[in-house]
Amino acid sequence: MTSSTRAEGRLGDRTLSRLGLGTMSLTGCGTWGDPPDPAGARALLRRAAELGVRLFDTADSYGPETAERLLREALHPYDGLLVATKGGFRRLGPHEWVADCRPEALQAACVGSLRRLQVERIDLYQLHVVDACVPVEESVGALTDLQREGKIRDIGVCNVDEYQLARARAAADVVSVQNRLSLVEQSSLPVLRRCERDGLAFIAWAPLAKGMLAAGSQALGRVAKRHGATRGQVSLAWVLRSPAAFAIPGTASVSHLEENVRGERLELTEDDVRKLERDSFYGYRARRLARKARAQAGKAKAAVRQVMR
Ligand SMILES: NC(=O)c1ccc[n+]([C@@H]2O[C@H](COP(=O)([O-])OP(=O)(O)OC[C@H]3O[C@@H](n4cnc5c(N)ncnc54)[C@H](OP(=O)(O)O)[C@@H]3O)[C@@H](O)[C@H]2O)c1
Repeated sequence: MTSSTRAEGRLGDRTLSRLGLGTMSLTGCGTWGDPPDPAGARALLRRAAELGVRLFDTADSYGPETAERLLREALHPYDGLLVATKGGFRRLGPHEWVADCRPEALQAACVGSLRRLQVERIDLYQLHVVDACVPVEESVGALTDLQREGKIRDIGVCNVDEYQLARARAAADVVSVQNRLSLVEQSSLPVLRRCERDGLAFIAWAPLAKGMLAAGSQALGRVAKRHGATRGQVSLAWVLRSPAAFAIPGTASVSHLEENVRGERLELTEDDVRKLERDSFYGYRARRLARKARAQAGKAKAAVRQVMR
C-alpha cells in the first residue's frame, strides 16, 4: 500500500497518514531500559517508514531515553517523517512515573530530546501529563518559550480533559491532543469532538487497549470476519473513523506492524459501528462488572464457609 492510498489528516501544517507508530513497546519491561532485541527494534522502525508510516510517537521517559535513541539510530534524519516526543515525566524505575512539568524541568527535558534525536527543532513537542503541582498554563507557557526559541515547531498536550485543554489553549497555540481512546476506553470522546470542531489533531494512544482488542470480543470477531480483516484492524478503523483522529498502536512485532498498516484502508459501516459500540464497549463493561460480582460472591461464600466451620 502506498501512502497516497491511505487515510490522511492534518497535524500542525502537515498532511500525514493517520496511522502512526507508538514506540513505548520498544523498551524493556516496565518501559524501562533497552528492549530485549535493540537491532530488531531498529529494523521495525525502518520497516514502519518503508510501509508509509509518517508519524512516530515517542517520549524522553520511554526507557528513559531508549526509544528516542533507537529512533535516531534507525531513522535519522527523518526525511518526510514527523517525530512527536514528550516531556513532563521523571522515571525512578520500571513502572514508576513521576510528573514534573515545572517550566525549568520541561526546558531541560526538551534540550535532552533535541540532543538524543539529533535535531535542531522537534516537530511536535507534547506535554506528557498535567502536573497536579503546576498550573497547566505555566507548563504550556514553557513550551511556548521553547517554540519562540526555535527548539520546537508545534505544541501538543496529553491526557487532558476539556477544561484542561481549554486552559492550555488559552496559554499556547496547541495543535494536538494525545489521549487514550479505544473501543473499550471512550472517556475522551468529548475531547475528540472538541478537536473535530476546532481543527486540532487527536492522537489516540492505546488504540488497541494495550493489545486486548487484538484478541477482542465476539462483536469484533463478527465484524472482522465480514470485512476479511483482523480484530485489531477493526479496532483501529473504529478510532480512525473520526477525521481528527490519528492512531499510534505500539508493537515490537513486524508482523503486527504490517497487519496494523494493512488495516488502515478498512472502512466500517454505520451498522458495524453500532454493533461494535453496543457489544464491545457496554458488553465489555458488563462482563467486567459480572466478573467482579462473581469474585465478590466467591469471597462472600468463602467467608461464610469459614464461619460455618
Ligand atoms: N501520552 C501518553 O500518556 C501515552 C501513554 C501510553 C502510550 N502512549 C503512546 O501510545 C502508543 C500505543 O499505546 P500502547 O502501546 O500502550 O497500547 P496499544 O497500542 O493499544 O497496544 C500495544 C500492544 O498491542 C499489541 N499489538 C499491537 N498490534 C497488534 C496486532 N496487530 N495483533 C496483536 N497484538 C498487537 C502489542 O504487542 P506486540 O508487541 O506483541 O505486537 C502491544 O502489547 C505507545 O507506544 C506510546 O507511543 C502514550
